[in-house]
Amino acid sequence: MSNPWFETVAVAQRRAKKRLPASVYGALIGGAEAGISLGDNLTAFDELGFRPVTAGQPAERDMATSVMGQPMSMPVMISPTGVQAVHPDGEVAVSRACAARGVPIGLSSFASSPIEAVIEANPQTFFQIYWAGDRDSMVARLERAKSAGAVGMILTLDWSFSHGRDWGSPDIPQSMGIRTALRHAPEVMARPRWLATWLRRGKLPALGVPNFGVGDDAVPGFFDAYGVWMFTPPPSWEDVAWLRAQWDGPFMVKGVHRADEARRAVDAGVTAISVSNHGGNNIDGAPAPIRVLPEIAAAVGDEIEVVLDGGVRRGGDVVKAVALGAKAVMIGRAYLWGLAVNGQAGVENVLDVMRNGIDATMRGIGKGSLAELGPDDVIVPPGFSPPS
Ligand SMILES: Cc1cc2nc3c(=O)[nH]c(=O)nc-3n(C[C@H](O)[C@H](O)[C@H](O)COP(=O)(O)O)c2cc1C
Repeated sequence: MSNPWFETVAVAQRRAKKRLPASVYGALIGGAEAGISLGDNLTAFDELGFRPVTAGQPAERDMATSVMGQPMSMPVMISPTGVQAVHPDGEVAVSRACAARGVPIGLSSFASSPIEAVIEANPQTFFQIYWAGDRDSMVARLERAKSAGAVGMILTLDWSFSHGRDWGSPDIPQSMGIRTALRHAPEVMARPRWLATWLRRGKLPALGVPNFGVGDDAVPGFFDAYGVWMFTPPPSWEDVAWLRAQWDGPFMVKGVHRADEARRAVDAGVTAISVSNHGGNNIDGAPAPIRVLPEIAAAVGDEIEVVLDGGVRRGGDVVKAVALGAKAVMIGRAYLWGLAVNGQAGVENVLDVMRNGIDATMRGIGKGSLAELGPDDVIVPPGFSPPS
């Protein structure tokens, strides 16, 4: 087998595209409508520049930090993704990679691995829920996460059920059976290495969401759970405050895009927010999170922890986000591509790419610690951020 190591996330993405069945790869890309936000998440980082120093750089760079009480070896953590069929080891492999590299994992309520197994691999696990179902079922999910040992809760709110994509949505089956297998056989047969990875583990993708069910219910199917979520009326900020009060520990609201709502999140008692547009999967036209980060960090950064996710593909992106006010970033597709390519080792590879990139960038701009980073370290072009 050729060397599975990859030097950048872009290389991992190319390999993932070659390895995964088209519908699985398409589900990872996602994006809403015309893909404007999806594209902007990357473009915006590219618009930012650095002014390198020539001599006098510190010999060592310290990039350790913490989010929601969890120490982390660098300002990068795993964003929750509800995604199926990428790799048979699923989120347990991601969790092991996090433990090996000293970063927390956010685990989705739509993930394919049960929370208990993920926490066994890495106790630094934040559980992510949506506002889905009735209050009793939400509390039941929190209680299960608590008894499993989750160290924080992430409530994701930025999903508007916009299902159209100009390039066509992937065909995602409801469950795995003979008919589904036959329908997907052509694309699967074109990806024998992916299939072999599953067969070696003696399984096929189950397409269930084990963290969404409550009580002794059987594991719900992905789209059954999605339906529950879709038909749940959106929460008010009072509802958010109520849910926050049900969780005795650090609590993040993910998906904040406006300074006034960041303030509402503070008032609701959260520990942290993630400035996010759900990786370009919320309403199309939402600007990249990095464009609105400075305004939000200025509004609430002294009171709660501000995290960013969306479009982070290299260590330099992480440094840009920290310089503009984020305590840390969360990565989504980047680790999914690593997982697709090489399981746990692929996720470790992605985390190493991030770490090396952060280190090289900090060296290049002459910074020895994250605390030294500030807006002056980044060249921000005029008109970069939308008017507030
Ligand atoms: C395939 C896929 C599934 C996702 N599922 C979830 C989810 O279940 N819960 C959640 O909070 N965010 C989910 N997200 C959003 C990610 O947590 C994160 O916000 C996004 O991926 C960041 O952008 P990036 O992929 O450019 O890093 C998902 C994203 C992708 C790409």
